[in-house]
Amino acid sequence: MNFENILVEESNGLATITINRPKKLNALNKVTIEELHNAFKTLDADTNVKVIIITGSGDKAFVAGADISEFAHFSVEEGGMLARKGQEILFDFVENLSTPVIAAVNGFALGGGLELAMACHFRVASDNAKMGLPEVSLGVIPGYGGTQRLPQLVGKGKAMELVMTAGMISADEAKEAGLVNHVTSLEELLPLAEKIASKIMRNSSVAIAAAIKAVNDNFKDGTNGFETEIKEFGSCFGTEDFKEGTTAFLEKRKPNFPGK
Ligand code: COA
Repeated sequence: MNFENILVEESNGLATITINRPKKLNALNKVTIEELHNAFKTLDADTNVKVIIITGSGDKAFVAGADISEFAHFSVEEGGMLARKGQEILFDFVENLSTPVIAAVNGFALGGGLELAMACHFRVASDNAKMGLPEVSLGVIPGYGGTQRLPQLVGKGKAMELVMTAGMISADEAKEAGLVNHVTSLEELLPLAEKIASKIMRNSSVAIAAAIKAVNDNFKDGTNGFETEIKEFGSCFGTEDFKEGTTAFLEKRKPNFPGK
């Protein structure tokens, strides 16, 4: 896959997407958002890809936000469309992907950058990372799901404080708040994400996709996540992975999941 602003590498079931605009601290412009959509879509459709890691290039930023230079002159309608389209093609799209997505937050994750990390299934961070939603300091609010996903992850009061103050928190504070799962050095960040990915890859990709759907449905208005869980649980019984997983257990061997 050839892109202008992102790099995509794939090896042994693991795909790594690197947002590659280091001079602009990997800010998300329109082209980058569209490229990310295309990369995620292609990787999700590839049954060989079992886990996706997303990170930023350089040692300073994961993503320092949406590209302010692109929307500074937008009208009310254009502002609304920016948020709607972005949520649809990237942020909601990533959250609802069947393939697990880990954000490896390697520096500033601000505004749209933190929103992208929050749309991933979970996050690990390097100890130099700084996270925040600075939008109100620009006279706007988070538009890529930040007002919804931050309270889900850290609770309403903490989210309100972060949004209203437009402040940044350190990686350790983010871990304490439940925003990231692990903190390590910058050098160890990708190895850590890869180690977690390798544990995920040992399991049934079909069951993992079902679990992602069931967990996400807990947060969807008008959807009963318990019902989703029952349906997805039942569906697993018809998969080859379930046959292999249970047979392997009974035969006291490691499973070799076909991913079907
Ligand atoms: N949109 C567009 N360009 C951005 C950007 C963004 N969100 N964040 C950083 N950049 C650009 C800067 O304009 C600068 O470009 P230039 O060299 O052509 O002038 C370059 O990236 C480097 O950033 P700089 O501000 O010089 O780095 P710094 O180390 O002094 O500060 C930050 C780092 C992250 C604190 C600062 O860049 C910042 O506040 N960025 C905006 C964060 C934000 O508000 N994001 C939410 C957007 S909704």
